[in-house]
Amino acid sequence: MEKFILAIDQGTTGTTALLIDRQLRVRGRATVDFPQHFPRPGWVEHDPEEIWFSVQQAVRRALQNGHIKPGALAGIGITNQRETTLLWERSSGRPVANAIVWQCRRSAEICEELKNRGLEERFRQKTGLLLDPYFSGTKLTWLLRDGPELHRRALAGELAFGTIDTFLVWRLTGGANHVTDVSNASRTLMMNLEDLSWDEELVELLEVPGALLPEIVPSSSPYGQTRGLEFLPDGIVVSGMAGDQQAALFGQACFNAGEAKCTYGTGAFLLENTGEEIVRSQNGLLTTVAWQLGGRTSYALEGSAFIAGAAVQWLRDGLGVIPAASDIEALASSVPDSGGIIFVPALTGLGAPHWRSEARGTISGITRGTTAAHLARATLEGIALQICDLAGAMGEDRGQPMVLLKVDGGAAHNNLLMQLQADLSGLTVVRPSMVETTALGAAMLAGLGCGFWTDVAALSAAWSEERRFLPQMAPEERGELLDAWHRAVLKA
Ligand code: G3P
Repeated sequence: MEKFILAIDQGTTGTTALLIDRQLRVRGRATVDFPQHFPRPGWVEHDPEEIWFSVQQAVRRALQNGHIKPGALAGIGITNQRETTLLWERSSGRPVANAIVWQCRRSAEICEELKNRGLEERFRQKTGLLLDPYFSGTKLTWLLRDGPELHRRALAGELAFGTIDTFLVWRLTGGANHVTDVSNASRTLMMNLEDLSWDEELVELLEVPGALLPEIVPSSSPYGQTRGLEFLPDGIVVSGMAGDQQAALFGQACFNAGEAKCTYGTGAFLLENTGEEIVRSQNGLLTTVAWQLGGRTSYALEGSAFIAGAAVQWLRDGLGVIPAASDIEALASSVPDSGGIIFVPALTGLGAPHWRSEARGTISGITRGTTAAHLARATLEGIALQICDLAGAMGEDRGQPMVLLKVDGGAAHNNLLMQLQADLSGLTVVRPSMVETTALGAAMLAGLGCGFWTDVAALSAAWSEERRFLPQMAPEERGELLDAWHRAVLKA
């Protein structure tokens, strides 16, 4: 019987299940969205049961669409929205609260408290991260402070903490395995980048009882087997796991130091493989684990812009300038330039390399001649310009400028955005044939972990380029735009 790898990509707004054959072709696919909960301004939650339901539905539908029997699955790979924080009861597997989503800012005060105690450098040195509510650690502190009963139960060993990878493995294996992979663990503010284990000092500073924590495991290895599920038979091995941005780096076949990718989704995430070297950023970037595979750990530098596709959604929903997100390309192409408009899309503050959560979006340079088309073009430029700053910071940190950028994610289909990215950054931008690189990366890790594939060489060979965008903008024009952008960012 022909065999397949099931990749589960559990993202912020939906879950995608993909069935991949030995030649890395997609043979079944389904996406199921789930609700977002905003209990207060700046707070974002997910109901873990709604996530679990979306996973089951997506897997069922992908199998149906691909006419594939569950018994044909050779292994399962998981990739996930990172940093999103959950707590559940070990005895029943029931979550004790909604998940706190990576975008949620509720632990800002806890971060300030730790910064005021002069601890940021300590966290940075050990984890490669900053004290920002984005990461799991202070979300967990918040949950435990909010419910003293939860703290007591955590100390008594009754509860389990996990990011989404951990929760899904727990559920898939009927509670037999409480594990997280190194790439997800590296986003918690609790894992030491050097020895890849929970750091006792940081765990204590975050007031987290050690009994809550999962075991840290490699990104590719047989972790456990399905058990007691309605939608899958018992005994399918779960053998690959990575945070979604790291999985995309893997799915883009960026296996070597100096290779980089950018995923354009709601936000945009730029990651550059730094090999086995831990590069500590001097320019506001994060250092993170890319993956651990075959006993070797690869690290990455990361820069995230919180708003990318979300700026296009705002043009659609907030301003009504375009009926559908995909209409932005035609509108923006109808003018040769943005007519002097600069849009800094800091709608939820600025992430790397600025880290100014108080910053807000600005549109400057508006005249009576400004049209919706100029604004559309400035929006695409704003998305691309954020990535230029991140790529520049990475080049400085590595002492080697980036030259080529692989792209994926929904907005990577936008040819104008990709051309602007090449023009404004001076980078060669390469789009692969298969842009669902996140799920592909998880499938590849799982396939390597269960012996479906034997090495990454076959996987590199299967990666193929669909289109290449070369920088074409005149250097003076580029310089002027970058100067105007940097002036505008200071005012955001
Ligand atoms: O760090 C957050 C990131 O992992 C979320 O990715 O694609 O689910 O929005 P996405």
